[in-house]
Amino acid sequence: MDLYDVLMRRRSVRNFEDKPVPEDVVDKLIDAANNAPTACNVQPLSIVTVQEAGRRAKLARMVKRQPWVKNAPLTMIFCLDFWRLKRWAELSGVAFRGNDAFSHFLLGYADVMCAAQTVVILAESLGLGSVYVGKVPYVADDVRAYFEMPAYVFPLMLLCLGYPKTVPRNVPKFSPSVIRHRGRYRPLSDDDVRNAFDEKYGSFDGNARRYFERVLVEAVEAGEQGEEGWLERSRERMTKLAVKSNAEFVFKVRYRADLMVENNAEAIGTFRNAGFDCFK
Ligand SMILES: Cc1cc2nc3c(=O)[nH]c(=O)nc-3n(C[C@H](O)[C@H](O)[C@H](O)COP(=O)(O)O)c2cc1C
Repeated sequence: MDLYDVLMRRRSVRNFEDKPVPEDVVDKLIDAANNAPTACNVQPLSIVTVQEAGRRAKLARMVKRQPWVKNAPLTMIFCLDFWRLKRWAELSGVAFRGNDAFSHFLLGYADVMCAAQTVVILAESLGLGSVYVGKVPYVADDVRAYFEMPAYVFPLMLLCLGYPKTVPRNVPKFSPSVIRHRGRYRPLSDDDVRNAFDEKYGSFDGNARRYFERVLVEAVEAGEQGEEGWLERSRERMTKLAVKSNAEFVFKVRYRADLMVENNAEAIGTFRNAGFDCFK
């Protein structure tokens, strides 16, 4: 299978076989992450590999409601690591101020995610599946304490990995022409915006399970792994808010607009606690 086919076949996997990832495979994944591009080649990245069942369960309790964090045989915590750079600068008698600079935070975030996505792709090509868990910055105080991370080390992303038991097959995507702008940006007309999302999500199916399989597959998967609350809460919220379109479902249930700004201060707080004072 060529790389294009591997990429087109890839789906986020949340249901894993109870089978460890061999250490030589973990080593290859780390090698690939270490070989990823980084701005100025300073490699501001560390990866904590979590394999022991008790530590996986503890991490899962921190992020809540995502049983794959406990069930995946391997979770990688992708950290922005300015501690190592800062320490080296101190030891060498030179200055490093990246932790106070938003521009360097942005570059560092990009560096970390380039490495993470490199791991996703290599893992897929080796027969593994993976899923990101993006909530970790909100619970970073607990994660940093438990995994003994010093100041200037910040857990940006979890990646759960393992051999897939099942793979979702109904995940909707835009037609590629929606995201391509030839030569310059051309805003879509209102009709084209509506069509792009209608074609992506298909008809709105009310409460039907197949709608959730397409538009909120995490909740279905969580339910199948013993975590019923998510699916039930989503169903109840749909009913309570009388959700009647894909857009209402996305912005009121899945990708909630009401929480976006509300959770912002909390996220910034965890960065500050880790010594990143760059959001001012
Ligand atoms: C930044 C980021 C954060 C994500 N966080 C989560 C998460 O917390 N839980 C989860 O189950 N999936 C998470 N995902 C996976 C997405 O839900 C998934 O990529 C999306 O539904 C599209 O499915 P696909 O990966 O199969 O194309 C995340 C993906 C990204 C890129």
